[in-house]
Amino acid sequence: MADSLSHHLLSLSSPHSSQMAPISGATAATSRLLPTAASRARLSLSHSSSSSSARVLRSLSSSSSYSHVSSLNCARSSPLFPRVFLNRVSAISTVAAASDPAQLQSAREDIKQLLKSTFCHPIMVRLGWHDAGTYNKNIEEWPIRGGANGSLRFEIELKHAANAGLVNALNLLKPIKDKYSGVTYADLFQLASATAIEEAGGPKIPMKYGRVDVSGPEQCPEEGRLPDAGPPKPSDHLREVFYRMGLNDQEIVALSGAHTLGRSRPDRSGWGKPETKYTKNGPGAPGGQSWTVEWLKFDNSYFKDIKERKDEDLLVLPTDAILFEDPSYKVYAEKYAADQEAFFRDYAEAHAKLSNLGAKFDPPEGITLDGVTGEKFVAAKYSTGKRELSDAMKQKIRAEYEALGGSPDKPLQSNYFLNIMIVIAVLALLTSLLGN
Ligand code: HEM
Repeated sequence: MADSLSHHLLSLSSPHSSQMAPISGATAATSRLLPTAASRARLSLSHSSSSSSARVLRSLSSSSSYSHVSSLNCARSSPLFPRVFLNRVSAISTVAAASDPAQLQSAREDIKQLLKSTFCHPIMVRLGWHDAGTYNKNIEEWPIRGGANGSLRFEIELKHAANAGLVNALNLLKPIKDKYSGVTYADLFQLASATAIEEAGGPKIPMKYGRVDVSGPEQCPEEGRLPDAGPPKPSDHLREVFYRMGLNDQEIVALSGAHTLGRSRPDRSGWGKPETKYTKNGPGAPGGQSWTVEWLKFDNSYFKDIKERKDEDLLVLPTDAILFEDPSYKVYAEKYAADQEAFFRDYAEAHAKLSNLGAKFDPPEGITLDGVTGEKFVAAKYSTGKRELSDAMKQKIRAEYEALGGSPDKPLQSNYFLNIMIVIAVLALLTSLLGN
């Protein structure tokens, strides 16, 4: 996998600064292009799960436990199978995860260092979003449904107009990917994005990991699934694109708040000024036009600035402006301009949801990095009271089910019938006692 990245980076990147590298082959994008009906045609794919299975086999073939794991399913269905062994197999099956938890932790530390030295927070957020944002909820099959599956590492997708410049983000992540073979691209992109938000002063994102990678460029989504910055009807367009991902108006507005970070560059997207007083000296590669004055700080200034529109040096795309014009979007945009805490809470939830779109997790419940303590903190700080069960809690519940030979996805049928039998027996006993 690392090889495929090296190959594409060699062919796409400039030999100079990774931040400034022009993209040979990829046109400076006109992100105004709308997809044609033909380009929306589904790809016909055949290798849907080969990479995951191969990785699982590879990681297990070095351990004598492989045969145990392969017999897990039939073992679970046997009532005579000792629970202690099932528990051991559950622990072993963690080895088969798409990403390795210890390597994810270390990779996160390396990403923090990278952010400190290169100020690449914004492009990492855009990378994670563009990998996940191709998701189509109307397609069930992985990976043609798109989403956070690492497909953006392939040249064919990097060359989509909307992805202009993202090869620079891949260049920056390459040494980390090379160092941690036990972290998938799909996870690395989302890890880099969430870490960038947190390191820029944003909320803690309730992330989980374990995303499986697509294995080849033929599994990339067709061009045209990401939003266009200047469509004829921006509010309808945003709904069409984000509803297709299963996201709602509130999430559209909250996620747009990520533009509190970063800049637009005319040589990439075709939008923004070549430079402004806020960008001419960097930090990082100079140039472009930012949405906010402090474009490396994650706060709610995006909403304040696009509401006021007083500063010609600050960018407002048609899809940004509409957030204060469309009556439904406006409710949230006004709220976030007035209340940073509300923005942080909703952003954190929406970002985590975006990062999971279309992803196939191994193990299915995902891997959390911060443990129960971190999760509790997140819930206490950002919970609305209606929050879903935390991932750590879901993991615990799953473990309980599995210890009993069942799974949260499938009811415990044997226990269910056993309970009915007990109830019938008790009723029969009571009836006979009362009869006497
Ligand atoms: C609502 C629809 C959206 C549109 C039309 C849009 C469009 C754009 C455009 C045109 C750029 C400039 C790219 C360049 O020239 O380098 C950009 C940058 C950016 N976008 Fe979006 N975007 C949208 C949503 C989002 C979302 C949902 C996120 C994240 C959750 C996001 C995060 C970013 C970031 C962080 C940058 C700055 C990248 C950098 O400085 O390198 N955007 N976006």
